[in-house]
Amino acid sequence: MKLSQELLENLIKVTSRSAVACYPYIGKNDKILADKASTDVMRNQLNNLNIRGEVVIGEGELDEAPMLYIGEKLGKGNGPKIDIAVDPVEGTNFVAKNLPGSMCVIAIAEKGNLFKAPETYMSKIAFGNNIPVDCIDLDFTVEKNLYNYSDFTKKKLSNITVCILDRPRHKKIITELKKLNVNIKLISDGDVSGALFVSDRKYNVDIFMGIGGGPEGVIAATALKSLNCKFQGRFLFKTDEEISRAKKMGIEDINKKYEISEIVKGESIFCATAITNCDLMNGIIKKNNKYITETIVAFKKSYLEMVKKEISFT
Ligand code: FBP
Repeated sequence: MKLSQELLENLIKVTSRSAVACYPYIGKNDKILADKASTDVMRNQLNNLNIRGEVVIGEGELDEAPMLYIGEKLGKGNGPKIDIAVDPVEGTNFVAKNLPGSMCVIAIAEKGNLFKAPETYMSKIAFGNNIPVDCIDLDFTVEKNLYNYSDFTKKKLSNITVCILDRPRHKKIITELKKLNVNIKLISDGDVSGALFVSDRKYNVDIFMGIGGGPEGVIAATALKSLNCKFQGRFLFKTDEEISRAKKMGIEDINKKYEISEIVKGESIFCATAITNCDLMNGIIKKNNKYITETIVAFKKSYLEMVKKEISFT
């Protein structure tokens, strides 16, 4: 079975409508409400599709999330069997504070082809499709990765940009990058976008690295795979409880470094609709009873495709 164009179009509608559900909560300083509005609509919309879907990345595990929990079955019960990764609001702080960078995201693959990721952190590295896979590695030092990248691309270190979340846990990496005289793009949230920046020169990011959410890592990897970009990730567990949850999900080696091909197999579809303005696309515009949304899509093409959609409400 192959994923169809019709399914892609349906998923664009799902992320667009879910993003619009969030619109009233932009700048209301309540990230929980914003997330709930988008989650409710996304679940409803997915349940109306002719799919036999299962959530593999969701709002949490059954005991912590009433909706879109990992393992929840979605769809009308006919049609293709698919694994679904959802992030109804990626960048909840951005919506709450009316700041750029929030989006509504879905990624899917055929059943059994998308990694079931636990709610834990992941150490990640991503780089573009023009760089050989052995040039950069999660296990190399920051210095080695940067020198290898510089050697291969013939770019001076001072012309290379690394994107990383602005977090105290990244102090050591940021200090090393500064010492190397590399440009740093420090993002306050939203590392799905952070990873996607490596997919096109226009975003002016050469490498994305650092620790962020594991589910966000899997979602970003899904898009990067379609775009032929590179990604590696390793889950980081803080407590024994996290480890035992991961083991229940089938992760045997908790220290394993995952290659992109192990995170997503076969064909996949990635859709992200902007809620507020993003570097990758414009946020929702409201005109009378109409909302105009912009969605980026990664499916079978080596570039991010932009789709504009007009949604009317009566
Ligand atoms: P939310 O939208 O769920 O708030 O996540 C935003 C985010 O910045 C992710 O993009 C990132 O992976 C994660 O949070 C980082 O977590 P933390 O804020 O704990 O460092």
